[in-house]
Amino acid sequence: MSMYEIQGGRPLGGRLRVQGAKNSVLPLLAAALLAPGQSVIHNCPDLSDVSATLDILALLGCRVAREGETVTVDAAALSGSAIPERLMREMRSSVIFLGALLARTGSARLCYPGGCELGPRPIDLHLAALRGLGAEIRENGECLTCTAGRGLRGARIHLPFPSVGATENAMLCACGAQGVTTLVGAAREPEIVDLERFLNKLGARVSGAGTPVVTIEGGHPLHGAEHTVMGDRIVASTWLCACGAAGGEIVLTGVEPSSLDTVLSCLEQAGGELECRGEEIRFRSTKPLRGIPPVHTAPYPGFPTDAQAILMAALAGGRGQTLFVENMFESRYRHVAQLQRLGADIRVWGRSAVVTGCPLYGQRVESTDLRGGAALVVAALGAEGTTQVTQLSHIRRGYQDMEGTLRQLGADIRLLPTNRDTGEDHGICETQPKAKTPPQPAWRAL
Ligand code: EPZ
Repeated sequence: MSMYEIQGGRPLGGRLRVQGAKNSVLPLLAAALLAPGQSVIHNCPDLSDVSATLDILALLGCRVAREGETVTVDAAALSGSAIPERLMREMRSSVIFLGALLARTGSARLCYPGGCELGPRPIDLHLAALRGLGAEIRENGECLTCTAGRGLRGARIHLPFPSVGATENAMLCACGAQGVTTLVGAAREPEIVDLERFLNKLGARVSGAGTPVVTIEGGHPLHGAEHTVMGDRIVASTWLCACGAAGGEIVLTGVEPSSLDTVLSCLEQAGGELECRGEEIRFRSTKPLRGIPPVHTAPYPGFPTDAQAILMAALAGGRGQTLFVENMFESRYRHVAQLQRLGADIRVWGRSAVVTGCPLYGQRVESTDLRGGAALVVAALGAEGTTQVTQLSHIRRGYQDMEGTLRQLGADIRLLPTNRDTGEDHGICETQPKAKTPPQPAWRAL
């Protein structure tokens, strides 16, 4: 068990390459099993969600290897189509394997996915889309048994809500269907465009990603391919909000600025100075951030719900008022009570929250979920005194070596055992960033 200990009030500075995108690499890895061959994925971040996905691939009979930020998946010898509950529960995106397995093997057996507790997260849109492609899906309690006995057939699928996961699941499944599938009302996130790029490299025929209408010509023979994952726009947003909270000047590379332009415009309205060139973002913050017009989360190209908590944390330590409206998830304000422990003035009613910027003070706080945990680190960097952030397993799901990355920007952050309070020092300190992990399956030794 470990925690971060952060001394706030030190401006950030320096240059940083942003890690590959979690929400792109997870569907890409699921897509790799569509092709009976070897795929090579570069810029693959080292995250617990990625490890869980590689566990699933290995369990299904794929040969998996990692060397630094490059992962190789050989799905030629795929042998299974059932995923055990313990792996499904690790994260939400495990459900994407449903479409991929149906397309590749004609069957899939798995239970409902886990993931961040952000309120109800049904998969009804996923199942409706896959049934529209001809899948027979039996739901009994926790388990889903899916077959495509009569084969998958291309169809016109209408998504009543642009769900990211349902769009990805339907795209993967449609690659194995005979004929053309038209997805109307599809999600438009940049991660969907990255998935389209990879699928076309595998030999599929997909077009329209990034628009509300995605077309998939199914039934084409697929083969392994090589792909570099896009930069993570939410991680980039986190480092920018950290700089907004602590002050300073940073340069980020390896991420497409337009993929996070709603976040950039909020930081600019709050008083930050921005300069974007190619895949480079220069950000400067010299005074407390000020309040901005209301922030409504929405499907892309609207303001990303995944950046709500981190922007809120940066503004909580600023001056002035901002209204947030969380439209994507029912309960995505679990971080508020922890920010209030740091002295933040935040009032919540239903899906709305009003933040009034004021000075923050170090405290011991607990991560509640992935982005909520990152928000506490952002707030701590701008707070006075020492903050301890616990429950880091949430943060490790989406941030590769957060403490090392922030230290690269000059932050005073250390990784310590959680029983620091007892004053007992077990000799583990910040020079050994990784906490002890449970025994690893063979492929991780590679
Ligand atoms: C993806 O989740 C991301 N996860 C989430 O990021 C992100 O918050 C979300 O998209 C929205 O942008 C990954 O890509 C792995 P949705 P997903 O299906 O696919 C409802 C993070 O922090 N819905 O677009 O699960 C659902 O309940 C994570 O990195 C249905 O009602 O999101 C939610 O209210 C957290 N029925 C809304 O749609 C369905 O069948 C958006 O969900 C599917 C979704």
